[in-house]
Amino acid sequence: MTPDLMEEGARIREARAAPPGPTGKTESGGRAAGFSRIATPGEVDVTHGRILYLEDVCVSFDGFKAINNLSLDIAPGELRCIIGPNGAGKTTMMDIITGKTRPDSGTVFFGSTIDLLRHNEPEIAQLGIGRKFQKPTVFEQLSVFENLELALKTPKGVAASMRFRLDSGQSDRLAEVLHTIHLADAVTRQAGNLSHGQKQWLEIGMLLMQDPKLLLLDEPVAGMTDEETARTAELFLTLKGKHSLMVVEHDMSFIRTISEIVTVLCDGAVLAQGTLDQVQADERVIEVYLGR
Ligand SMILES: Nc1ncnc2c1ncn2[C@@H]1O[C@H](COP(=O)(O)OP(=O)(O)OP(=O)(O)O)[C@@H](O)[C@H]1O
Ligand SMILES: [Mg+2]
Repeated sequence: MTPDLMEEGARIREARAAPPGPTGKTESGGRAAGFSRIATPGEVDVTHGRILYLEDVCVSFDGFKAINNLSLDIAPGELRCIIGPNGAGKTTMMDIITGKTRPDSGTVFFGSTIDLLRHNEPEIAQLGIGRKFQKPTVFEQLSVFENLELALKTPKGVAASMRFRLDSGQSDRLAEVLHTIHLADAVTRQAGNLSHGQKQWLEIGMLLMQDPKLLLLDEPVAGMTDEETARTAELFLTLKGKHSLMVVEHDMSFIRTISEIVTVLCDGAVLAQGTLDQVQADERVIEVYLGR
């Protein structure tokens, strides 16, 4: 290979390693060219290597800064773990991403082109951000199958709902989701009779029916048995790559099993970030967990 070709190769590698972000300034001082590119409908533009991007987000409740200049980003297909003491702002951050809470200031982008602050909660769900709250909210009277089927129905009224039939693509998807959430053997069981862990998986399955690009999971293993927790870890590891995941959890052994990068939130901002070992060795992190 000639030296100029090697130089060219090095330049390309460098450009790939450090793609300009949504607010990345170009040499001319403007935004990166890709910023205004129109993504294919239904697609999220992740050409800048980020599926979610928060910058300098602030929100106050009666003068109390629950989120205080929070900045973080998540790569496509990443499984990001978020930890932090009670009241750190973890749930509030998810409320902001999903449009439940409006921030006072800051930037929240889905991919490079979708400004989430311009969308309301149902629109954000429609864009491909699924959220799992701590408490399972499945329809207890319905079967596992019916719960998953219901997740595909659009809110067009009772009559339209009654006429709804799965097409073959949707049937395939339902079978795939049943397998993923380990409930293929329980397809006819009434959801109310499932264990707590199974209900949590069913609810995750309901989110998966919509094929979300980003899944936000708030304390998903709270109240689970050790065995259910281990299965949930397996489940999340299989979802990683196909979906991007943001997982908030207090259970450190669970975090150890699934995590690559862990972000520690404290007082509404990022306190530390790195592998679990790195953040657990951080004096500031030790202080917020033990010093209170
Ligand atoms: N709607 C609200 N009104 C007033 N204060 C709020 C509201 N939502 C959250 N807060 C406050 O903001 C702070 C952050 O709360 P948040 O629920 O986001 O913490 P968290 O990190 O999820 O904690 P935990 O680990 O206990 O779930 C807390 O002090 C909480 O009391
Ligand atoms: Mg919380």
